[in-house]
Amino acid sequence: MGLKEQIDKNKLPQHLAIIMDGNGRWAKQKGLFRSMGHENGSKAVREIVEGCAEIGVPYLTLYAFSTENWNRPKLEVELLMKLLVSSLKKEIKTLTENNIKLNAIGNLDALPKKAHSELMDVIEKTKQNSRMTLTLALSYGSREEITKTIKEISLKVKNNLISPLDIDEKVINNHLYTQNLPDVDLLIRTSGEQRISNFLLWQIAYAELYFTETLWPDYTKDHLFEAILNYQNRERRFGKTSEQLNE
Ligand code: IPE
Ligand code: IPE
Ligand code: MG
Repeated sequence: MGLKEQIDKNKLPQHLAIIMDGNGRWAKQKGLFRSMGHENGSKAVREIVEGCAEIGVPYLTLYAFSTENWNRPKLEVELLMKLLVSSLKKEIKTLTENNIKLNAIGNLDALPKKAHSELMDVIEKTKQNSRMTLTLALSYGSREEITKTIKEISLKVKNNLISPLDIDEKVINNHLYTQNLPDVDLLIRTSGEQRISNFLLWQIAYAELYFTETLWPDYTKDHLFEAILNYQNRERRFGKTSEQLNE
């Protein structure tokens, strides 16, 4: 039986988030420019989006560009933005055919005009799709998101729209970029690094973490299915005892 057939459809992560890392090292190992790593990384994106849609994961969020990534060499940043535009243009067809809705989180106003408008265009054209929500984290940083959230809530308090006593987890959730997404169930990071790098700090409070040595451009559906099977064999206790869960 293949890995895919072993997956329990009733125990799928509702929200899968991936830190797609290792494009640069993949290229270096092959004696290629980093740009080739990013190009091949975008092919892996298609493969994994398809894999998630096939098994029925409803929410997939991909870390594509962090607030810190603006500090990379200018040429690399430009290349990544160009790649974003060309991938969006190319993938609109796949998204439409597979009934996938595109969403984006992050400080999107910081994106170059062209990337921003292309992104908005694809979001608009796929907004009625319902099989899966694919969220791209672009110019995304969790600390920026939390700072923005605090500012927005503070302004509402100042303008008497909300009382400080009414601020609870739900109110905070409703001001995050991820307000329409459920909490992350499974977080995968490729390339062997074991860190979060400012990704979804609030939203991964109870996520299962999965780290793999595979570099992102080499990541295939079978790697994804392996990670999901591993997730399905874990016991998520949310603070309770094992006995309580089996009562
Ligand atoms: C991930 O690959 C892609 C982005 C962060 C945009 P990297 O470019 O970080 O690859 P490594 O970590 O240098 O190998
Ligand atoms: C995290 O990867 C950001 C993305 C995958 C988009 P990085 O390669 O930028 O993270 P660090 O620098 O290793 O923490
Ligand atoms: Mg990296």
